[in-house]
Amino acid sequence: MSHLVTLIPGDGIGPEVAEATRRVLEATDVGFEWVVEEAGAHVLEREGTVLPERVLERIRRSRVAIKGPITTPVGSGFRSANVALRQELDLFAAVRPSRSLPGVPTPHPDVDLVVIRENTEDLYRGIEFRVGSPETAALRAEIRRLTGREVREDAGLTLKPISVTGTRRIVRFAFGYARTNGRRTITLGHKASVMRFSDGLFREIGIEEAADHPDVGFEEMPIDELAMRLPREPAAFDLLLLPNLYGDILSDLCAGLVGGLGLAAGANLGWEYAVFEPVHGSAPDIAGRGVANPIAMILSGVMLLRHLGEAGAAAAVERAVDRVLGAGEVRTPDLGGTSTTDALATAIVRALGEG
Ligand code: NAI
Ligand code: MG
Repeated sequence: MSHLVTLIPGDGIGPEVAEATRRVLEATDVGFEWVVEEAGAHVLEREGTVLPERVLERIRRSRVAIKGPITTPVGSGFRSANVALRQELDLFAAVRPSRSLPGVPTPHPDVDLVVIRENTEDLYRGIEFRVGSPETAALRAEIRRLTGREVREDAGLTLKPISVTGTRRIVRFAFGYARTNGRRTITLGHKASVMRFSDGLFREIGIEEAADHPDVGFEEMPIDELAMRLPREPAAFDLLLLPNLYGDILSDLCAGLVGGLGLAAGANLGWEYAVFEPVHGSAPDIAGRGVANPIAMILSGVMLLRHLGEAGAAAAVERAVDRVLGAGEVRTPDLGGTSTTDALATAIVRALGEG
């Protein structure tokens, strides 16, 4: 049986790392039927949008997609294709694993953690009020009326909605993910002492759901304590469950702990659809030169394989990546080498063949 997967090469280095990823995935014993769809800045002129409706329909049909990065055209008035994709497909969970890799020197050799970030709420909801606008004046007046508190006249405002519904589904998702992926302990980060009604709710629902999921360990921790402990003792953590803003920041910190953007894989998941993608962007500074590191997208492919139930092939690709990195002979420039994207993909395909 082969798996129907939508492949979106994307912009910049996207097509280069996507091709490398496809070669590696096809070298496993898993069958794929690819539906290649173009999206991104390079289709904007032709299609009038960075994310044609056709692409969304394809993903709805295949239910799973793997994508390269998409450039957000600056000042064009178009919303980011990545944000649009998350909203249209209700991909409410961002999942980013960080694992120490052989041959990639970092301060901690034993990192193996996953960040699950709520993808739809919090300060990133996009509800904002510009300084000096009539809307801001109206909101200030309402806040004064309701709370007796003053917001300075020269303030801009960003709202932080965190709902019971949005929190419960990400918490349940995290417990399900932990169970399926062999994670033992969830650490929920928050600042409930200050933001009692938003982060406080996030924390409360986490505690509530933990009581219903006794098979997975659970702890909650103030986000500042977590930020202090993570770089000191990353091996003490297993799965971090975070609201949107903290998740954005700490998942980048975790990527930094294990060697940076060229190696950081990710997925955006919902109950119905799954879109796998590297954490990095389209890297216009090196695009077209064939030197981008494909491992971030290849490891996103490993997550795709696990999602498809192909755990054996996923482990095999992981071993092949480890072997090539560990040998240290074939490295792209971001890892201190001089090899090309293709050469690294070829080395990984060869290592796969060796079992
Ligand atoms: P970027 O991640 O593209 O690049 C940052 C730096 O990391 C650059 O020096 C780049 O050369 C390097 N880099 C990134 N990936 C690499 C790889 N695989 N191998 C070797 N070096 C790599 O971030 P930047 O420059 O802020 O964004 C460029 C464009 O990408 C923007 O339009 C941004 O909106 C978009 N972007 C898209 C994302 C997505 O589609 N999910 C995520 C992040 C940014
Ligand atoms: Mg970020």
